[in-house]
Amino acid sequence: MKKFYYTKEKEFWETNRDSYYSVLSRKDEVEVMEWIGNFSRGDVLDIGGGSGAASKKLLNVSGIWIVCLDLSYAMLKHSGHTKVQADALLLPFKNNSFDLIIAAAFIHHLPGQECKLLKECYRVLRSSGRIIGYDPNGSCIQNKIFMSNNLLRLNVFSPDERPLDPLLLRDLSGEVGFSNFKKKYISFEYRQKTIFQIIQVLLIGPFAKWKLKKYFHRWFLWSMRKI
Ligand SMILES: C[S@@+](CC[C@H](N)C(=O)[O-])C[C@H]1O[C@@H](n2cnc3c(N)ncnc32)[C@H](O)[C@@H]1O
Repeated sequence: MKKFYYTKEKEFWETNRDSYYSVLSRKDEVEVMEWIGNFSRGDVLDIGGGSGAASKKLLNVSGIWIVCLDLSYAMLKHSGHTKVQADALLLPFKNNSFDLIIAAAFIHHLPGQECKLLKECYRVLRSSGRIIGYDPNGSCIQNKIFMSNNLLRLNVFSPDERPLDPLLLRDLSGEVGFSNFKKKYISFEYRQKTIFQIIQVLLIGPFAKWKLKKYFHRWFLWSMRKI
């Protein structure tokens, strides 16, 4: 087996497989499914797919082949898809193998390696292929405070995950060869309510209007309505 770069990250996901991490709310699932569009045929790679939960929910159709790739076997073993335990930076697939890559809450687990990851994705995608994903927004103040490298960083996060700057992702995608980069702001739903969510949803949310609503979502809060 290939040597994994991310030993601590792997250990985290081998032992914290039921831990506290983000999932899509039902509303956002619908949104992400719209991005995917009418996908009824083809080969799909669920990269950093964990237990394959995202691809299972998003692509609940027969006739497509889904490969779930992850560092952690403890996560993968719950996946009903074809399982591949590997490092996403060294994809064990030939060029032009997939029509769609789903990177669900994943790219932000490889800080500083995004370009390498995107190159690998580009290599294994067919020319008409697409990559779709979602990550915590690196421009969001709350993410900057509690997810970045500083004393206030919360220990619920895995060792390598950091919020991802959407502009960096846009630039790197272009460098690697992807065209037509699109971004949208959606909300993560946490199993446990954070104090920010309570302030946001219950106290400020009902009174926020127009631009203020947008501002809250983009720059401060984690889980406001999408803009
Ligand atoms: C937040 S979980 C997301 C799992 C899944 N995509 C979902 O939405 O439920 C992040 C996953 O990335 C995996 N991971 C982290 N670094 C990786 C790497 N270098 N190569 C492959 N998988 C990796 C972890 O093992 C973990 O399962």
